[in-house]
Amino acid sequence: MTDATTAPSPAPARSSTMSVAEAVARRISVRAFRPDPVPDAVVRRVLGAAARAPSGGNLQPWHVDVVAGSAMARFRAMMVDVLAEYPRGEPDKEYHVYPPDLSSPYKERRFDVGETMYATIGIAREDKKARGAWYRRNADFFGAPLSLFVTVDRQMGPPQWADVGMFLQTVMLLLEAAGLGTCAQEYWANYPKAVTGFLGTPPERILFTGLAVGYPDEAHPSRAHRSNRVPLADFATFHD
Ligand SMILES: Cc1cc2nc3c(=O)[nH]c(=O)nc-3n(C[C@H](O)[C@H](O)[C@H](O)COP(=O)(O)O)c2cc1C
Repeated sequence: MTDATTAPSPAPARSSTMSVAEAVARRISVRAFRPDPVPDAVVRRVLGAAARAPSGGNLQPWHVDVVAGSAMARFRAMMVDVLAEYPRGEPDKEYHVYPPDLSSPYKERRFDVGETMYATIGIAREDKKARGAWYRRNADFFGAPLSLFVTVDRQMGPPQWADVGMFLQTVMLLLEAAGLGTCAQEYWANYPKAVTGFLGTPPERILFTGLAVGYPDEAHPSRAHRSNRVPLADFATFHD
């Protein structure tokens, strides 16, 4: 990275009762899952508990679709055809995942996380084919047996999208505490028609993201990856 970074600390060992701090420290984006199903009761408990997340005016602007089991098999089968037709995403995307002209220091941070991941899993910078194949694993939810899809009413603006983000992080931390792994996937914003068509999302709602959920494949080399963070002084200003 061009800006100084705080060296990421290794993930702490998992304890039987996990504190919030521990869950925050342990959560990383999981990009290799075991196929073992996620218990329905755990998903229901976590979503119910995460609904305690705050939101401006208590609008609770999050909507979640849970896709697992035979629905997940149908979704994967649908994606075979969709990917054949639109390997680079549907022509009509609904929002920019990143600003079109992402400026410094953000574009370097984005570059850095890709580079550190490829270094961890042993893919060379010039190996475009292997990089493409790794990226396309998004379409398979990195092997996860379950995905959440999060949609938002189109009338909502940045404050409510931030609320949805808080909800999503709460979901991820509670799943972490339950021994599960997650990877948020804005990748699915490349396929808004396919995803919302599958889910039957009403037209007044926009797809924000997917969230792959499952038990991490601890043996996969990507499990060793820890993304960098900039130091506190780079994002916090203290006035006293
Ligand atoms: C809303 C959101 C969408 C994301 N979309 C993707 C995605 O499509 N594919 C992916 O591999 N990672 C995705 N990520 C994971 C980020 O790359 C990751 O959170 C970031 O690099 C920090 O790493 P960490 O989650 O391991 O701490 C997403 C994260 C968020 C919060």
